[in-house]
Amino acid sequence: MCVSGRPASYIAGPGGRISGEIQVPGDKSISHRAVMLGAIADGITDVSGFLAGEDCLATVGAFEEMGVRVERPAADRLIIRGAGIGGLRAPSTALDLGNSGTGMRLLTGLLCGQRFDSILIGDHSLMRRPMERVAAPLRRMGAAIETQRGRPPLRISGGRSLVGCEHELDLPSAQVKSAILLAGLHANGRTVVGEPVITRDHTERMLPAFGVAVERDGATVSVLGPATPRGAHIEVPGDFSAAAYFIVAGIIAGAAPLVIRGVGVNPSRTGLLEILRLMGADIRLHGLPEQSGEPVADIEVRPGFLRGIAVPRELVASAIDEFPVLFAAAAVAQGETLVTGAAELRVKESDRIAVMAEGLNGIGVHAEAMPDGMRVMGGTVGGGVVESRGDHRIAMSFAVLAARAGAPIVIRDTHYVATSFPGFVAAARGAGLALVEEG
Ligand code: S3P
Repeated sequence: MCVSGRPASYIAGPGGRISGEIQVPGDKSISHRAVMLGAIADGITDVSGFLAGEDCLATVGAFEEMGVRVERPAADRLIIRGAGIGGLRAPSTALDLGNSGTGMRLLTGLLCGQRFDSILIGDHSLMRRPMERVAAPLRRMGAAIETQRGRPPLRISGGRSLVGCEHELDLPSAQVKSAILLAGLHANGRTVVGEPVITRDHTERMLPAFGVAVERDGATVSVLGPATPRGAHIEVPGDFSAAAYFIVAGIIAGAAPLVIRGVGVNPSRTGLLEILRLMGADIRLHGLPEQSGEPVADIEVRPGFLRGIAVPRELVASAIDEFPVLFAAAAVAQGETLVTGAAELRVKESDRIAVMAEGLNGIGVHAEAMPDGMRVMGGTVGGGVVESRGDHRIAMSFAVLAARAGAPIVIRDTHYVATSFPGFVAAARGAGLALVEEG
């Protein structure tokens, strides 16, 4: 169940007119990592721009349960009193990561080298997600981790000594890569991870800020353990994945240019920009100084027409969280959009291929689910009821698409939006979407 637990729906009206300037909350991936490294660091870590969404707060809660003191002087600021790499306390209960795959998978890497046992659980969606992808490589390092037929709960036995080794991943996954690197901090020797394409590299960028050297060579990254992070000051940029809803809204429902301020534009995350540009969008980046090793920019979006394309497969990994909103954009593009090589979408917070196809079909869009992607025929969009199946990104995507619908769209199960984007409704209304929340 969602932490807030309140069932809610959106009524998203047609005719939104997007323009002006907005800011989005802090990056979810970077916020998780700042909490994790701060918790095992020696000394104090000061995090500003922290995403106070339910996913990241679940990670904070897990570390509090393990004895880490975390103060929150402001909604988006954390002061973490690091316990040191061996200083976490055995949790007295199972650690509940809520809806967060990132929380669970990265924590598995971090906890498998500790002295104590731990059990990781999550909500209904997380308990169905695949975990062998992270458990198997960690076992090769000496970790003892049990899954339940490949899924949570994860039972981690402590007191193992880990050894660094070389991993060649066949699945592009920043979560798996990061879990291995976090385990590598506790291991003896060098831990090396090679990946088939470069996935988001926030862990690699953040470790040096905590005083841990990282070697990188193309799509291979390594750390030498054991290594103790030192407390750091981390400034979290705006979340590109949160900005994505407004980027698409600004194109398909724009009345004038829209500027989204201070967004992280790490190239391993911005595949959506390249895809939308191939579809004809006019998007400009105005660079700002880096924040904690991450590139940042104001993103300016102009209203325009999109045309359907075959999305290049090499862009899939860097747009992996943005496919729900891309499918929404494709619904109003001219012609057909084809996405392939994206089977990973089936094991996200929901089966994003099935749930998006079902939702689009329900409002009159011709969308055909395929095993590893989707075919969407652009055209007119009707109104109706859409089930988000408890997936935050699906709820927000239909809220954007409603601006171009012929009648209101009721989107169910929207309380999960708080996992990644607290304040989405206010931000969307501020930008010009006609959105109301009920329940
Ligand atoms: C994330 C990695 C991605 C992404 C998720 C966040 C991360 O997952 O979908 O939302 O913070 O490392 P995978 O590593 O499973 O692709």
